[in-house]
Amino acid sequence: MNTPRPGRTMRHRRAAMASLLSAGLLLSGGTASAQASHELPRIESRNGHHALIVDGAPFFMLGAQVNNSSNYPAPLATAWPVLDRLGANTVEVPVAWEQVEAREGSFDFSFLQTLLDQARAHDKRVVLLWFGTWKNTSFSYTPDWVKLDNRRFPRMKTKDGKDHGVLSAHGAATLAADKRAFVQLMTYLRDHDPQNTVIMVQVENETGSYKNPRDFSATADALFAKPIPTVLAQRLHKSGTWSAAFGAQADRAFNTWYVGSYVNAIAAAGKAIKALPMYVNASLSGPSNVPDPYGVASGGPQQDVLDIWKAAAPAIDLQAPDIYDKTSANVIKYLDQYARADNPLMVPEMGNTRDFARFFWPALGRGAIGFAPFGMDDTGYANYPLGAADLSATTVGAFALPYAAVGSMMRDWARIAYEKPTWGAAKPDDGAVQSTRMGDWTITATWGEWQFGMKDWEWLKSDQAPWGKEPVGGVAVAQLSANEFLVMGDHVRVSLAGAPGTGPNGIVVRVEEGTFDNGKWRMRRVWNGDQTDYGLNFVSHPQVLKVTMGHYR
Ligand code: DGJ
Repeated sequence: MNTPRPGRTMRHRRAAMASLLSAGLLLSGGTASAQASHELPRIESRNGHHALIVDGAPFFMLGAQVNNSSNYPAPLATAWPVLDRLGANTVEVPVAWEQVEAREGSFDFSFLQTLLDQARAHDKRVVLLWFGTWKNTSFSYTPDWVKLDNRRFPRMKTKDGKDHGVLSAHGAATLAADKRAFVQLMTYLRDHDPQNTVIMVQVENETGSYKNPRDFSATADALFAKPIPTVLAQRLHKSGTWSAAFGAQADRAFNTWYVGSYVNAIAAAGKAIKALPMYVNASLSGPSNVPDPYGVASGGPQQDVLDIWKAAAPAIDLQAPDIYDKTSANVIKYLDQYARADNPLMVPEMGNTRDFARFFWPALGRGAIGFAPFGMDDTGYANYPLGAADLSATTVGAFALPYAAVGSMMRDWARIAYEKPTWGAAKPDDGAVQSTRMGDWTITATWGEWQFGMKDWEWLKSDQAPWGKEPVGGVAVAQLSANEFLVMGDHVRVSLAGAPGTGPNGIVVRVEEGTFDNGKWRMRRVWNGDQTDYGLNFVSHPQVLKVTMGHYR
């Protein structure tokens, strides 16, 4: 039995003024009046629930990320048809430091302008990925004048004094230069994106360092010998030196603090220009590698160091998992670890093979504000075997199906998930039944069944449903009121019944298929007879059901 997320008890709406009065607006001078007509995107959190507010209302990011080198006009053009096939409303696209500041101090945002123009023409929102000091830990996306100047922009040192292939978080000149470029980027957005086509910014990409838990330079060693910073000490109730406070994890905790502080300085400077939501993404390590300081990207926002990041980087709105691990129990663990009252869940990268698509549902059920499979463009590159070998109809369709269900009522789902209890599940690797209790009702998801009939019937034997052996299937549920549920899913049978101890005679009273339209439920038809006699069976059609339960006397 898994636990649903609790609901909000009160409805709150923060005045839009707060974000309009962001520093960016006040500083923007001539562009202020243009921008004043558009509310800045922001993240709101209440009672453990979160909402990404875009154009003044909750928004669910049905996203997709393009390949790494698609940050040029020609490859970008190949992405839009894929995004349309997918039903995505948002595209995540890198903007590289090397591309905007090839010559020091001289900035070129022509690609960004192309991206803004094309996204608007294709009716998509954008999440910008700032590839700067760190990209999958390496400095490969820094300009040549950074890469080639190890004195001014020092690499980390290993314990035996060698250069490591990652820039040091203690490089003051590196931070100043990265920050300056990022500020230019945000200034460009402030001045050229008054309608907020860009709704969020990822600051750096998969920070940290592999096989070198911290910088062992003289500068870093001197800092390492000091007591841990007060903010961190207070948050974690620890004290003393890094070694005293963190023991075997000291090097990693130290690097995490300094990488987090570095990224925070960049994000804060950018937000002072235009206060868009900003987040960081984690190169996850299998649960068994955490917390091995040599086995993880030390310094990155992995699941076990989120609190250090929270203390070091208050300008970062959320830390997010990049999920490429297909083991279903691990995926669920990552989702649970990043979905916190102080950390909105967003999945900025998910492998794009068919079997990852089902994890959209448990992410949704955990109140995620967005989700994006990786590598969704038609440039001819595939990160197989991590992701799909090609973007076949089956691959894209696996994500397009849940996207279509939510897409039909995206704003309403985001509003409901901000206010009401939600739950979601995916078919686990062992095909085990998943269930939860929501109020007086038990909700059960079973997998691999035909829509008609029961598996254990003797009189009507059948072959196995083709999806019975496949890693597909998921469900998301929102509890609209004590006895009313919104149910969506694919390749799943969902059964609702009275929970133990809630009295006899609990039944499904009515099942309506329909959708929300600007906050109002619009019924298309009532499901009954075969459609409800054997549970609610979702297979390959994007359907949204409103289910009313009740007790007869
Ligand atoms: C995670 C990174 O964040 C992406 O940019 C990409 O390199 C994938 N790994 C692998 O395709």
